[in-house]
Amino acid sequence: MTKFPDGFLWGASTAAYQIEGSPLADGAGPSIWHRFVHTPGLTADGDTGDIACDHYNRYRDDVALMKALGLQAYRFSISWSRVFPEGTGAINAAGLDFYDRLVDALLAAGIQPLPTLYHWDLPAALDDRGGWLNPEIAHWFADYGEAMFRKLDGRVKRWATLNEPWVVTDGGYLHGALAPGHRNLFETPIASRNLMLAHGAAVQRYRAVGNHEIGLVVNLEPKFPATDSDADRAAANRSDAYMNRQYLDPAFGLGCPSEMAEIFGPAWRDWTADELALAAQPIDWLGVNYYTRGVMKHDDAKAPVCADYVRQPHATYTETSWEVFEQGLTDILVWVKDRYGDVPLYITENGSAFYDPPTANDGRVEDPLRVDYLKRHLRAVRAAIATGVDVRGYMTWSLFDNLEWSLGYSKRFGIVHVDFASQERTPKDSARYYTHVIASNGGVLDDPPPPHIRPVAE
Ligand code: BGC
Repeated sequence: MTKFPDGFLWGASTAAYQIEGSPLADGAGPSIWHRFVHTPGLTADGDTGDIACDHYNRYRDDVALMKALGLQAYRFSISWSRVFPEGTGAINAAGLDFYDRLVDALLAAGIQPLPTLYHWDLPAALDDRGGWLNPEIAHWFADYGEAMFRKLDGRVKRWATLNEPWVVTDGGYLHGALAPGHRNLFETPIASRNLMLAHGAAVQRYRAVGNHEIGLVVNLEPKFPATDSDADRAAANRSDAYMNRQYLDPAFGLGCPSEMAEIFGPAWRDWTADELALAAQPIDWLGVNYYTRGVMKHDDAKAPVCADYVRQPHATYTETSWEVFEQGLTDILVWVKDRYGDVPLYITENGSAFYDPPTANDGRVEDPLRVDYLKRHLRAVRAAIATGVDVRGYMTWSLFDNLEWSLGYSKRFGIVHVDFASQERTPKDSARYYTHVIASNGGVLDDPPPPHIRPVAE
């Protein structure tokens, strides 16, 4: 197979807090990310999302750029606190209107909107009420979802509930590098459970008021033992349970992995039958975010999973220290099918941070390592499809260089370069290459790259 299946959906992803800017405009409430970045010392260089890519003001031009690049779909997230400044209660019409206009602009450009309800920017007002630690959040989230479904369902045909519950809890409640910045073993499994209950409640609500598709987005990383020792094999298995199965097993009705009790010890409590049933609402599709693999060795100092990554010799690492390992994408897609059955899959994120040389005078940004990453991973998707995995689309991360959370603007994942002083957007070579990939439905993937990095019109 040299091409992708007919109808394969090609697009790019972003998230609200990473690109929009104007976080408090038009009546929006602050989110936990607004709070986090304005706490001194928590982000690289004190960077904030106050302006970011100024997408809130420039979305029309941005949609025109997406169209020029040939994107068929655009995955973005909705800022809960723009729509509900207090998280619950009164809707802020101006906030809702932004997403209404964005969706209309996308449709007018022939681009399918793929919104995610939660990409990490919880309303600060809800955090004050316990945030993901308060079981009430399942209802809060379903109510927020319902407002969005009622407004946009029909124009939006494919919704996602949560982006990466593992990162929300591991980064936000265990290690504290992400908002709300807690470091508490006991909170972590509570937040995980409430995230999955909120996911289930939103899916249930969607069945009552929506007519199309809803799914969940998880980040997956195949885990390999660093050596054949029993200790390293057990470390890899615990890591797999913690990152890959902790959310998918309950979402697909398999209960919680047995390893969770071992990992969390006294901080773990079994889910009730009602909780398991709510989390297991059938979904229409699953989004897989893939960046790297994990080669794991046992390490008692790395509680609670007691496993650490082992750096691989002779491998390429991105600027976020992630090994480029495209075979892992094929492997994890095959694993999802084998373990959870034939759910339609979308790659909802996949991409790399590399140093981009400054824009040259001819307006070109050369990013050969990102072109290579893209090509390798698309071939890996193609290989999974060839073995029978039902992958229906690919969204690269990210459309734009943007606020890489606590790493600020120091890491650039975009296929489009953003000059944060002038807000000028410049498609990198990877964007130009991607345009050719899309136009040929993957047909150029086996060609050498140079002819394809020029604009299509040349
Ligand atoms: C997140 C993105 C993030 C990317 C790169 C994913 O975990 O969904 O928001 O920018 O990884 O770190």
